[in-house]
Formats: sequence, C-alpha cells, structure tokens
Amino acid sequence: MKLARNIQDSFDYLPTLNNMGYMSPSLDQIQLAFVNESKRNSKGRFLDIGCGFGVATLPLVNEGCHVIACDLEARHLEVLNEKIPAEKKSLITLEQGHFPNEICLPENSVDNVNLSMVLHFLPPSVIRKTFTTIFKILKGGGKLFLTTSSPYQATLSSFLPTYESKRELYEWPGYIADIAEYVPQRAHLLPKMNIVFCVNELKRLATKFGFYVLDATFFSRVGIPEDLRLDGREYSGIICEKPREASVVFLEKNKAAPPTQAANIR
Ligand SMILES: C[S@@+](CC[C@H](N)C(=O)[O-])C[C@H]1O[C@@H](n2cnc3c(N)ncnc32)[C@H](O)[C@@H]1O
Repeated sequence: MKLARNIQDSFDYLPTLNNMGYMSPSLDQIQLAFVNESKRNSKGRFLDIGCGFGVATLPLVNEGCHVIACDLEARHLEVLNEKIPAEKKSLITLEQGHFPNEICLPENSVDNVNLSMVLHFLPPSVIRKTFTTIFKILKGGGKLFLTTSSPYQATLSSFLPTYESKRELYEWPGYIADIAEYVPQRAHLLPKMNIVFCVNELKRLATKFGFYVLDATFFSRVGIPEDLRLDGREYSGIICEKPREASVVFLEKNKAAPPTQAANIR
C-alpha cells in the first residue's frame, strides 16, 4: 500500500485522515527539542501521543531509539509503519487507541513524551486525565514536550475578543464549543469542540499537575496556511519536567482531590 507516498506528494500541510486537523511535514521547535533531547539517550523509551504520520517518531527510530507511537487513527499508524525501514521495525511499538482512555503504560516507564497538536481537541476532563497519566508514566526527570493551537490565528480573529475578556477569569478561556462558528471553511476537517491555549495557560496547567516548566513559547510553523497566519504566535508550546523526587508526594497528595469546575462550560 502506497498511501504514505500519495499523501506526501499532495500537500504541504497534511490533513489528518480522521478530521483531526493538520500535520506539518516538518518538525516545529518543540518537536525538534523532543527529538534532539531524546536521541541523546539511545537506551530510552519515548512516547509520541497522537503521532499522526510520525514526523517526530521517525527521526528517533532512525537514530535507533525505541518509540511507542500511539494514535486514534489506524490509517495514520499504517502510513507511519510503511515509512520505517525493515531493520528498524523492532524499535517501534504502534498503539492504536485513545490516550489516556485506552492506552495504558506502566508508571515511571517512559523517558520523554511528545504531545503535539492534540491537546486542543480534548475536553477539559480528558485534559486533566491526560496530564495526570503522563505525569505517572514519565520517569522522574522525564520531560513532556507539548504544543497546541493558540488563540492568535487569523481565522480566530472574531473569537479573540471573547478569549481576551475571559482569559483572567475563566479556567478554559480558549474553549470553543463549535469551531464552525469561527472557521467555517475548515470546520469539516476539525473536531467540533476545540480549546486553544496561550503560553500562560499551558504553564498554569503543567504546574497544576506537578510539572516544572523549563521553557514556554509562542511560535509559528513552516508552511502555515495563509488564512491561519497572524503574527508568529499561532501556536503555543511548553517543555516541562516531572521532578525527580517530588513526584510520589505530589501523586499521593492529589489522589483524593475533587475535580475543579470548568468555569466557562455551562
Ligand atoms: C493535528 S494531528 C497532529 C499529529 C502530529 N502529532 C503532528 O504534530 O504533526 C492530531 C493527531 O492526534 C490524534 N489524536 C487526537 N486525539 C487523540 C487521542 N485522544 N489519543 C490518541 N491520538 C489522538 C489524531 O488522530 C491525529 O493523528
């Protein structure tokens, strides 16, 4: 099956096969940091959540690193599998399913996690579970590399005043119940509900779930479509670390914590 070649030939920004947005065919700066940091540890075990066609997984596998690549969409994993040379196949574990609801990994078993352009499609309760689960499965000192769409995209300009009015007051100021209201031309390629994040919201979330934030930045991506392009802040990214010692205490302390209210979701 030559699905991979057809897809590569046809597009710059690649649409997902399950209407979960787009993938850039090149690494952005946060994904590049994931790859560069991870490949220094050839004995490590890395997790790429929502790996798509494997833009971040492939360079690591080609460097001889072991990657667990998971995605909701089996066809994405099929494309990725086609691109892996036969002699590297033993380095990849393909997991089709929903993270965190269906993909289960042992605690303290993963060295770094890549979560690129996935979080903005998850509802608040799943976002909380995602952070908690990643925190558990990472080894102490392991890092999470995370990117999302930001509210500063040209297609979201009519949403921006709503976002700005909520950003200091609400837990999820970037919550968009129906993306078709703001991006009708792309709505058929996106999940209905989206939550866009600025850098501060990502930092707040990561900190709340026990991570230590190492870096946080807005950024743009190579090949960004013109109707998304605004001013270089189209995406938000953070790199955060599970502290080596505090982790067990943090998990114990938060076991019985009641879920916080999503103030802007009524
Ligand atoms: C916009 S694409 C990003 C792909 C890749 N990470 C990248 O940055 O180019 C989002 C991907 O995440 C997958 N995805 C969305 N929600 C997921 C979930 N809960 N668990 C696993 N994969 C998910 C989608 O199937 C899709 O392949």
